[in-house]
Amino acid sequence: TPATGPFPQGFLWGGATAANQVEGAYAEGGKGLSIQDVMPRGITEQPTEGPTPDNLKQTAIDFYNRYAEDIALFAEMGFKVYRFSIAWSRIFPNGDDAQPNEEGLAFYGRVLDELEKHGIEPMVTISHYETPLNLARGYGGWTNRQLIGFYERYCRVLFERFGNRVKYWLTFNEINSVLHEPFMSGGIPSPRAELTDTDLYQAIHHELVASARATRLAREIMPAAKVGCMILALPVYPLTPSPDDVVRTMDTAHASYAFGDIHCRGAYPGYLLRYFRDNGIDLDITDQDREDLKNTVDFVSFSYYMSICESADPDVEKGPGNIMGGVPNPTLEASEWGWQIDPQGLRVVMNDYWERWQKPLFVVENGIGAKDVLVEADGGLTVEDDYRIDYLNDHLVQVREAIADGVEVLGYTAWGCIDVVSASTAQLSKRYGFIYVDRDDDGSGTLNRYRKKSFGWYQEVISSNGAAL
Ligand code: BG6
Repeated sequence: TPATGPFPQGFLWGGATAANQVEGAYAEGGKGLSIQDVMPRGITEQPTEGPTPDNLKQTAIDFYNRYAEDIALFAEMGFKVYRFSIAWSRIFPNGDDAQPNEEGLAFYGRVLDELEKHGIEPMVTISHYETPLNLARGYGGWTNRQLIGFYERYCRVLFERFGNRVKYWLTFNEINSVLHEPFMSGGIPSPRAELTDTDLYQAIHHELVASARATRLAREIMPAAKVGCMILALPVYPLTPSPDDVVRTMDTAHASYAFGDIHCRGAYPGYLLRYFRDNGIDLDITDQDREDLKNTVDFVSFSYYMSICESADPDVEKGPGNIMGGVPNPTLEASEWGWQIDPQGLRVVMNDYWERWQKPLFVVENGIGAKDVLVEADGGLTVEDDYRIDYLNDHLVQVREAIADGVEVLGYTAWGCIDVVSASTAQLSKRYGFIYVDRDDDGSGTLNRYRKKSFGWYQEVISSNGAAL
């Protein structure tokens, strides 16, 4: 690697999780059901009727009871920031309740107490794949305009309660994923195949308006706060230099760019309006909606796990990957789950987003899911996860490269900084953490925590502000 400048002073190093993947206590503290409570196999199988005991998220890693211990471990690693989500159904058990659930608010108050004790900056995802089940099944999820009002009521409660304690807010996790996983991402109960493009884009429109209204509300209630959008970043490369492949690549990239364009510029881009015209998509967009959308975000956050290729040849098959999948790149290796590893893609996407939107970036998810093995070592049980260290090191080197390219970057939160239940497969054996949690896919285990080798590595990276990479 060529020598480049250092990470900026005050760079926010840390880790990220989501409520449904760590908390457990799925029916405690007045919490209502969320869509995750009927997704025991993630997105690999149809949702169940009601909660089933084989759903690992019912207990997850028991963060609900062990948050203090976990946050102390994050502090030991030197975290400057911790990104977590608030479970909407802990605050509004049915989503449409008139009053919030005090016990749910109290829990997040206690989490914030711990973070403050250790000087860790909180970053809150308001909606991370955990729409209250009643809003999904009773209203049709985000296809229904009423969700804008319910979301705004939820945001008002959060901002009024926590506005003086939380500076960084993200409105919707991986908002572009709704195109591919409408139930998990948008609480839309109809199977993808039965939804028209109009249904999907109307739901997307409602989410974008809700996000913009939340941003306006945030500015009123907590002027010092920063609101970001959150995009699933998946750089798309043409499989061959053929112009057909290049144009197809542009179209695929546009489908995701549209979200950032609207969040950052406050209006629908021309290529999306053309797509609507060409496909007979006629959305209900009011004048008020157009006004609301002008409340653009302060920064752009995104997840990055892999890149994909695109091809105009209908016979070229797609491979597995982060929610959307894509045509495999013949030059890259993949993780055990088939997600292709492309550190330089992170630099590419960071330059791309910066040049396109000119807003500070925040890398809020990155990491590798792997099967870890707990082994005896001098200091007790640990995991020799050199593969994780390599993955994260290579990606952080590319963040440094992007910074040297002139990209403004606020921070980096490694995904699943403690092992979590996977979103796509609902497995615990797909581990991302610096901290191993003793729980297996069959639900057995002590739930004890163990520091992996990567724990000490990340600690050094943070204490040297990236010089140890
Ligand atoms: C992102 C999600 O898609 O990727 C996370 O925001 C998720 O919730 C992460 O856990 C990794 O995906 P998976 O399916 O390996 O858990």
